[in-house]
Amino acid sequence: LWESHPSPSRAGFLLYIPPNPVLWYFNPIPPFLWEIHSFSSLPPFREPKPSSPLSLLFSRLTENCHFFLVLMEFLLQVKNATNQIVMNCADIDIITASYAPEGDEEVHATGFNYQNEDEKVTLSFPSTLQKGTGTLKIDFVGELNDKMKGFYRSKYSTPSGDTRYAAVTQFEATDARRAFPCWDEPAIKATFDISLVVPKDRVALSNMNVVERRPYPDDESLVEVKFARSPVMSTYLVAFVVGEYDFVEARSQDGVLVRVYTPVGKAEQGKFALEVAAKTLPFYKDYFNVPYPLPKIDLIAIADFAAGAMENWGLVTYRETALLIDPKNSCSSSRQWVALVVGHELAHQWFGNLVTMEWWTHLWLNEGFASWIEYLCVDHCFPEYDIWTQFVSADYTRAQELDALDNSHPIEVSVGHPSEVDEIFDAISYSKGASVIRMLHDYIGDEDFRKGMNLYLTKFQQRNAATEDLWESLEKASGKPIAAVMNTWTKQMGFPLIYVEAEQQEDDKVLKLVQKKFCASGPYTGEDFPMWMVPISICTSEDPTCAKMQILMDKPELTVVLKDTKPEQWVKLNLGTVGFYRTQYSPAMLESLIPAIRDLSLPPVDRLGLQNDLFSLVSPATGEPAARWEHPALCHSPSPALGGARILLRTPKGCSISLDVGIPPQLHTNCCISKSVMGLFLLSSQVYVTVLKHGDSSTLDTMLKLHKQADMQEEKNRIERVLGAISQPELIQKVLTFALSEEVRPQDTVSVIGGVAGGSKQGRKAAWKFVRDNWEELYNRYQGGFLISRLIKLTVDGFANDKMAAEVKAFFESHPAPSAERTVQQCCENILLNAAWLRRDADSIQHFLQQRRAPPAPV
Ligand code: BES
Ligand code: ZN
Repeated sequence: LWESHPSPSRAGFLLYIPPNPVLWYFNPIPPFLWEIHSFSSLPPFREPKPSSPLSLLFSRLTENCHFFLVLMEFLLQVKNATNQIVMNCADIDIITASYAPEGDEEVHATGFNYQNEDEKVTLSFPSTLQKGTGTLKIDFVGELNDKMKGFYRSKYSTPSGDTRYAAVTQFEATDARRAFPCWDEPAIKATFDISLVVPKDRVALSNMNVVERRPYPDDESLVEVKFARSPVMSTYLVAFVVGEYDFVEARSQDGVLVRVYTPVGKAEQGKFALEVAAKTLPFYKDYFNVPYPLPKIDLIAIADFAAGAMENWGLVTYRETALLIDPKNSCSSSRQWVALVVGHELAHQWFGNLVTMEWWTHLWLNEGFASWIEYLCVDHCFPEYDIWTQFVSADYTRAQELDALDNSHPIEVSVGHPSEVDEIFDAISYSKGASVIRMLHDYIGDEDFRKGMNLYLTKFQQRNAATEDLWESLEKASGKPIAAVMNTWTKQMGFPLIYVEAEQQEDDKVLKLVQKKFCASGPYTGEDFPMWMVPISICTSEDPTCAKMQILMDKPELTVVLKDTKPEQWVKLNLGTVGFYRTQYSPAMLESLIPAIRDLSLPPVDRLGLQNDLFSLVSPATGEPAARWEHPALCHSPSPALGGARILLRTPKGCSISLDVGIPPQLHTNCCISKSVMGLFLLSSQVYVTVLKHGDSSTLDTMLKLHKQADMQEEKNRIERVLGAISQPELIQKVLTFALSEEVRPQDTVSVIGGVAGGSKQGRKAAWKFVRDNWEELYNRYQGGFLISRLIKLTVDGFANDKMAAEVKAFFESHPAPSAERTVQQCCENILLNAAWLRRDADSIQHFLQQRRAPPAPV
């Protein structure tokens, strides 16, 4: 064992294996052979053909033993004779490997050459493996790590206060290779038969339903749990969980058993998600006209969890805050969040799991689509939420802000190394992806869109597809030039600004439209002239909710005639803020819209869109006068875009006004987007912020005590996010130290530090220093994953002086974070933009706010 193992640095590791380990069985079985396409160093030994079981054996997991031992078998086909097999493999130590050609004797591999950088291992055999099928057996040890990726341990407390660990998986994007050597690519699908040997009193779950549970022969404290064979699926969707949980269950209308697993004693808190899931499954079945293919689906809350949720087929894992609702204490925004996340992950069961992207370049297909349809689903289940308005104020706005930067990227982006894959789980893939699908759905119409989805899902089920494949199906269903239109949105970055002016010609209005790339850094000056095919809807005051005309703008300039449109009628583009573009109206057209903004006859999403566009046009880049701040269109609309104004309020001048002034009062009164949005107002957060802002060390201690006592993670998170509102420097330090303490779940450290950075001007500086001082620990904690990008953005994005941009850039040059490279560039660009904006507008904004200073509160 020892000698065949080429990695002496891991010697200590092997010593932990019990001499006679009790094994967990784990048997993934591929009816298709593993197929590799993009690892050039791999020998060509695969071809997609039916094959027989592959099995893995896991060692027993005890609470103190953070290692697992696995024996596994793959059946594969050697396509060309070779004496090497290359597989993905990371943080795993292979003990033995052998290959047995069908009907022949097995040959033991004599060398395991780990290419750590590439996360691969090469198994070398003493003789040539001939063409044909055979069984590859590997036994190995891995670590049940604490990095929230691969096969990891998640810490939880029992109701009596003991600390325990659950064993949990998170494989997307490229971490199945940390749990077992495999060909870890989305297009290499197999079926899996999984068995686990676990302590009798633990819950053991996997993608499929349990088919057998029997005592483990060698140890009566253990049971062997065998799961049914999975459908053909990608490695990133494999999952298993072992721990202590309670559950609630229901059967959906279409007969699928749905369970929501919660921490022990909290089953009640799973009921809301259960209701959502039970409604959602039939909704998707009906929408896609494709049934959910598994007999069960489990949704489980995991204590330590890096993402929000993960769509493992049949076993969806969630952060506690994305799944659990306390009927008495949870706020309505938590309910909405749970509904959206459940809607999102269940959509992936079809779109992603049944049909999977060919390669990570098409990740956006998965995530953009799910991020759109989650709203459709929530709108269906809870029409009272008015959820689409929130789509515009959250996803659409965020996507446009990011995509206006020179350092944005096209939706479809070529990726190779795992760090590049991590990097694209960003607002472009999610929010811009969702926004362009929303625009496309509107352009095609629901009926044809559904037809196209059904074509796509049935044609590619159990297989992989690329962006073009979806376009082809939608084109077939709609007869519209989908690929031509959509390529302009997914293959080039950015989006257009559409200038529009109107001229009255008797009873008609003649509109002149011109499109140009919208840039946050100023009018586009590139040599090329990027152009989009833009579906544009136009409405008039005759009916603000119905398009009078729909066109496809497929050239840089276009003239359209709006028949029977009287001089007194206003004209507005982008009905419902569905098109992914900004509009710049001629002064006269904008002026004519003011009454409809004032009397709220223009629907909330339209006012929101107008306000976003106008707000983006007052930035210094566009050269618009700062006086636009005063424009009624900006002041009489809902206020999310004014989030950006906070940056300016944090400046030396702004500080003297401070957020006490808040948003001008008329914004509040007029921003009633809908009752439900107002209902979301997080009263307790606002109270905490106000108390902390004026508080001292005993206030902070009280908040920390409340945090400790809080039973729900939702409340803990609420407190964590606002602690940064505290003002005194030494208390800010205390909050930052708390962020890295045992009291805060590893994934939530990011929001505590982010809260400090966003809480005050001195907080931002302190948070940035803290990140620099603790860089190694933070980087190591998240292993460079996507949480590191979030941390960086939350910490530095709001700086507003040129020097800071240089400082941030220099820091990351000497402390590289490959998966956050683009985020760093985007932040530096934003800092410079903030600084330019501040230089130009600080005085006029101060003036604007002072005029609107809220009257002193009555004593
Ligand atoms: N597939 C992702 C989970 C994921 C995210 C895996 C990042 C690896 C890296 C999942 O479907 C997802 O998108 N989750 C979101 C929540 C969703 C409601 C937007 C998340 O984790 O933020
Ligand atoms: Zn997703």
